[in-house]
Amino acid sequence: MLSAEQKAQYQKDGFIIIPNFKTAEEIAALRARAAQVVNDFDPGAAQGIFTTKNQNADEYFLASDNTVRCFFEEEAFSADGQLKQPKELSINKIGHAMHDLDPGFRAFTSDARLEQVARDLGLEQPQVWQSMYIFKQPGIGGEVRWHQDATYFETTPISVTTFWFALEDATLENGCMWAEPGGHRTPLRERFVRNGDAVRMEKLDDMPWPTDATAVPLECKAGSLVCFHGLLPHYSAPNRSPVSRHAYTLHVTDGRTEYSPQNWIQRDASLPVRGFL
Ligand code: FE2
Repeated sequence: MLSAEQKAQYQKDGFIIIPNFKTAEEIAALRARAAQVVNDFDPGAAQGIFTTKNQNADEYFLASDNTVRCFFEEEAFSADGQLKQPKELSINKIGHAMHDLDPGFRAFTSDARLEQVARDLGLEQPQVWQSMYIFKQPGIGGEVRWHQDATYFETTPISVTTFWFALEDATLENGCMWAEPGGHRTPLRERFVRNGDAVRMEKLDDMPWPTDATAVPLECKAGSLVCFHGLLPHYSAPNRSPVSRHAYTLHVTDGRTEYSPQNWIQRDASLPVRGFL
C-alpha cells in the first residue's frame, strides 16, 4: 500500500499525508451519518463540553469511552447558557466508539487498505481503540493544545498511531493541524491516567512543546489520510473562519504490545477491541 518512499518519510518526519485516500462518496456518507447522530442528540439530556484546556473529566466524558456521545464546543453558549448558533453548528465532536457501534462509521472504518497501511507502518496486529468525528465548527471551533496521542493510549513499547481523515479541506484559515517534523523522536511528556471515575494528567518530561518556528501546518484536501506517530507533538488553532473543518480520527495500537490498564479506554469481552476488518 505504502511506497518505500512513504515509509521512509514516516520514519523521518513521524507523519505522512496520503491524498485522495477516501472518495467523495465515502466522505458524503460519513458526514450524513454524523449529521444524523447530531440530529438525534438531545442537548437537554446532557451538556457535555469538550475542552483540552482542563482535565476535569466528568461522568459524561468518561462514559463515552465505549459509547457514542456528542460534545459541545466550549464557545457554543452565551453567558445565559443558551446556544449561540443552531445545534448542528455547536457540536465539537462525537466520540468515542462509533467505529464499533454505528454501522455508518463501521463501514468507513472497515477498509482493507487501512489494515494494509497499518501493517506498512509497523502495526502487525492493529487494534482500533477510539474514533472521533471532529467538527471544528466555523467561528467557534476550539483550539486543541499541543499534545502527543500516546498520552492517552500508552502501550509498552509505544505503538499508538493516529489515522486522521480530512472530510473537508484543512487549511490555515479553518484550523488545520500543526506538527513538528521529527518530533516523534522526543519523549512522552504527559500520561492521562484513569482510576475508576477519577482521571489525572501526570507530567513525565519537561521537554518543551514545539513552537510555530519548528512546526509545520498539515494543510490537506478533503479525502486525505494523515497518519502520525503517537509521540508526534501536534496541535490545532481555533477556527475563526466561516468554514468548518470536519475530520474523522482513529487511534490504533499494536496488539503485540502491552496496553496500559490505566488508559482511560478499556474493553472487555462484551465489546472486545478489534482491527479495521
Ligand atoms: Fe491528537
